Amino acid sequence: MARFSDVWLSELYTKSDIVDVISEYTTLNERGGNYWGLCPFHHEKTPSFSVNREKQLYYCFGCKQGGNVANFIMKIENLTFGESVELLARRCGLPMPQMIDDKQYRQVKEKKQQIAAMHKLAARFYHDTLMAPEGKTALGYLKRRGIGEDAIKRFGLGYSPDKWDSVASLLAKNGYSAAQINESGLVTAKNDKVFDTFRNRVMFPIINVFGEVIAFGGRVLDDSTPKYLNTRETTLFNKRRNLYGIDLLRRQRSIKSAVIVEGYMDVVSMYAHGVKSVVASLGTALTKEQAVLLKRYTNDVFIAYDGDEAGEIATGKAMDILEAEGLSVRVIRFDEGLDPDDFIRKFGMAGFAKKVKAAPTTIGYRLEMKKHEFLLDTEDGREGYAIEAAKVIARIDSPIRRERYAESVADQTGYSVASILSQMHKKNSNENTNANYRYNKTEKTAADGSQSAFLACAMADVRRFADVADDISAEEFPLKSHKNLFSALYDSVKRGIQPTNAELLSQLEDEADRNEAARLMGIKAAVDNPLVFLKDCIEKMRVERREREREALKEALRGAPVDEQRKLLAEIGEIDKELNQKRFE
Ligand code: CTP
Ligand code: MN
Repeated sequence: MARFSDVWLSELYTKSDIVDVISEYTTLNERGGNYWGLCPFHHEKTPSFSVNREKQLYYCFGCKQGGNVANFIMKIENLTFGESVELLARRCGLPMPQMIDDKQYRQVKEKKQQIAAMHKLAARFYHDTLMAPEGKTALGYLKRRGIGEDAIKRFGLGYSPDKWDSVASLLAKNGYSAAQINESGLVTAKNDKVFDTFRNRVMFPIINVFGEVIAFGGRVLDDSTPKYLNTRETTLFNKRRNLYGIDLLRRQRSIKSAVIVEGYMDVVSMYAHGVKSVVASLGTALTKEQAVLLKRYTNDVFIAYDGDEAGEIATGKAMDILEAEGLSVRVIRFDEGLDPDDFIRKFGMAGFAKKVKAAPTTIGYRLEMKKHEFLLDTEDGREGYAIEAAKVIARIDSPIRRERYAESVADQTGYSVASILSQMHKKNSNENTNANYRYNKTEKTAADGSQSAFLACAMADVRRFADVADDISAEEFPLKSHKNLFSALYDSVKRGIQPTNAELLSQLEDEADRNEAARLMGIKAAVDNPLVFLKDCIEKMRVERREREREALKEALRGAPVDEQRKLLAEIGEIDKELNQKRFE
């Protein structure tokens, strides 16, 4: 992330009044000190989108998102923080800082531009070669696989000639030095020899959200191995942070949902058949960063991995990663041996639409998978399934949705809804809860506790926070967003800065953190004596942490060996003593 100086940023924020900026995107009306309008990020009929001029913040009570003016631009224009800042600076005529103090940042940026320029040349060259007589075999291969000219153009597919130095000499001819060419990843150095990384392969350019080619995937034309080669990681290319197909997805007008597949060919083929919002990870399992990237464009995703065991395992992992980022996920499975490309070529768009319609939620999918582990025509099988199903249902937060799933399990096993639900309560704090579920739960219960109160008050009165900052540590905050917010505040006051809300927001890199911060900033933290209030909160948080630790110890007690139990009991006793003492203080 570009580092702008605090002084420059604060000037930018002063000149970019949030009400003025947002008014260019949605109509705002003043009511009760705040400005209100229809949220530009979700569809609504009555305004729940608020802008506070005094605090220079926006917050939508409908989609629970908010931030400062730069965060607004990031979201609505799909830009990074640095780019949004640049756009705002242009808007108000503020010259960009030279960033002289950040030489390293400038060098990295230049290097990235250089690698992108080389990739642009290479992509054009590969594509032209595919269309030239030299690419006849490769073009025939693609045609045989049902990929027409239109999809070839749209994805910029190409062919790398069967020579050692086509791209290397092309780049040299364009004035790039050997060192620069080497850093691009387009060539490989081995035993003092440098040669083209990709030879005799169908080329899939990997294009980022800015429309830049940043890497390639290359497929052989036959059954030889390795089937695919991918550009190694470079200054420009980080395979964990990009998705194949994201550029085309981004350019769509309205994206209702996206499909995630495993392969390049799956993306191209699905797109050619009319499924336009489709992406794939880049030769690795889906990452958290990719989930975050996808979430910039849609909240609803379908996992459509290959119909084999590897695909099934990958589906389980991808579900957890996507759900942890708050995406709503449904699962499509294909018959054994079919991947999305095979499927859509066989059954077409109509067949795929049926799959989409019938796709279960992750809960439905997990229940289905569990069901296969038991023989439901035996008493033991039904009991086993009911117990396992209760664990799955325990992941759901909504009691009503819980009941709905419990009903279907009751139907299948003959047990009552009531006993399935109470089975769930019995076990739900145990091994069945994955990290994701636990995270959501703490998010809920702690959201209005002393941590929130503390942070809200601290942000409203940073000077008082500075007085108590050293009495508390980040570990008192079980939520990641709270921890990050605390650290940002803490770092600021340690640098001798009392950040405004807007400045604080620009220090938070994670969108989830900013949303939570904006929510807390909106809380009216009018307390009589902030110092006393902050100190009280710290005390409460400490007690709560000890209580959490006590719970964890009690949990560990179950099933621990005897001598281990003795140790755990001693620790619990220690905490009890401490907590009791506090009660009498
Ligand atoms: N992959 C890779 N290296 C390999 C094999 C696969 O990087 N040696 C990655 C590629 O990103 C590929 C994805 O894993 O697109 C899925 O692999 P696979 O299902 O084998 O490829 P498809 O895209 O389905 O290709 P095809 O249909 O041409 O076999
Ligand atoms: Mn395939």
